[in-house]
Amino acid sequence: MFKNKIPLLKVSLPKKKILISKLSKTLYSGNIAEGKIVYEFEKNFQKKFNYINYNVLAVNSGTAALHIAYMLCKIKKGDEIISSPVTAEPTNIAILHAGGRVRFADVNPLTGNLDPKSVEKNINKNTRAICIVHYGGYPAEVDKIKKIAKKYKLYLIEDCAHALGAKISNKFVGSFGDFSIFSFQAVKQITTIDGGILLIKNKKFYKKAKRIRWFGLTKSLARSKNRIKDLGYKYNMNNITAVIGKLQLKQINKLNSISIKNARLFEKAIKSNPNLQNSPIAKNNKSVYWLFNVLTKNSLRLIKKLNYFGIEASKVHVLNNIHPIFNSNKLNLKGCEEFYKKILHIPCGWWLKKSKRNIIINILKNFK
Ligand SMILES: Cc1ncc(COP(=O)(O)O)c(C=O)c1O
Repeated sequence: MFKNKIPLLKVSLPKKKILISKLSKTLYSGNIAEGKIVYEFEKNFQKKFNYINYNVLAVNSGTAALHIAYMLCKIKKGDEIISSPVTAEPTNIAILHAGGRVRFADVNPLTGNLDPKSVEKNINKNTRAICIVHYGGYPAEVDKIKKIAKKYKLYLIEDCAHALGAKISNKFVGSFGDFSIFSFQAVKQITTIDGGILLIKNKKFYKKAKRIRWFGLTKSLARSKNRIKDLGYKYNMNNITAVIGKLQLKQINKLNSISIKNARLFEKAIKSNPNLQNSPIAKNNKSVYWLFNVLTKNSLRLIKKLNYFGIEASKVHVLNNIHPIFNSNKLNLKGCEEFYKKILHIPCGWWLKKSKRNIIINILKNFK
C-alpha cells in the first residue's frame, strides 16, 4: 500500500560536501591505516562523553571491542559470564569467542534490562564477569549490578551499543564498568560504516588490549624488537573510518535530542491508552531511544497495524537463548518471555517527519 515505508532505523551520515572533502583528503594522503586520525577520534570521544577515568581504544567493530573485553576477564575453560538474552547476538557470541560460557539471567519484563536479583542468583564458582546491556538506549540498573559485581569480585562489562549519550545520575552510560563497549555499525546512532570503541579502566589491561588489537604486537615498537606473547587479532580502526567518526561526534547531540523529543510525544500518547505501556526510566536517568519501546499484550497486532499505515515496526531482536549454540534453550526466564511477548519498537529518530509521527501518535492513542 505504501511505497515509502518509514524505516525503524536509518543510516545517518554527515553532510555530503563536508564528508567527501574530508574523506578524499585522507584517502589520498597515503595514511589510510590506523594512525593519527584514529587517535584523535579516541581523544575526541573521551572528551565528548567525559570518560576521563578510562583508556579509550578504537576498534573495527563493537563485537571486536566485546571480544577484547571478555579476553581481558581472563576466562578459563568452563568459566561463565552472566549476560542477557535480550540483546543482539554479538553480546553473547563474543563470550564464546573468548572461550567462555554464557549464563543467561532474567530481565525486568518492562525494560528488557537485566534484573539484579536474577544476576545474583546466577552467580556460582565459575562466574567471572557480568555483562550489562543498556537495551534500546534505556539505562540498565547499573548501580545495583555494580554492587553485586564488587561483592563477588567479578568484572563488569557495559554493552552500550544502543545507548551512546544515555545517562545514569548525570553520568554517561559506559562510566560504570571495568570495560564498556560501543558500536558504530551502519544503523547505530552514529556510524563509521563499521567500528567500535572499548573503554578500559585499568592501564595495564589497556596496554594489553592495544596489543590484542594488533596481532599481539606493540605497534609503537619496531617489528624486530617485538615478541608476541599473547594472541592478538586485526581489530584496529583505520584512518578512513575514523574521519567519519570524528565528524559524527559533532552530530550526536542533535540526533539524540530529536529522538528524545519524538519519544516524549509517544510516551504521552501511550500513557493515555490503558492498553499500552511505556518502559519506565528512573528519575535521574536519561534514555536516548535508539529503539523506542512500546509494550502491549497485542504486540503482533499493533505491529501489523503500524505496518499497514507504512510505519515499520518490529521486535528487532530475538531472545538469544533460542540459539542452540548457547545450550540454554530450556531456561525458565519469565521476565524475558513477558518482555519479548509484549515488546515492539517504532521509528523514533531524526528521519521521522511530523506527519508520520502524528500517524503513529494517533495509532498509539486509539489502539484497542
Ligand atoms: C547490543 C549490541 N552489542 C554489540 C553489538 C555489536 O556491534 P558491531 O555490529 O559493531 O560489531 C551490537 C550491534 O549489532 C549490538 O546491538
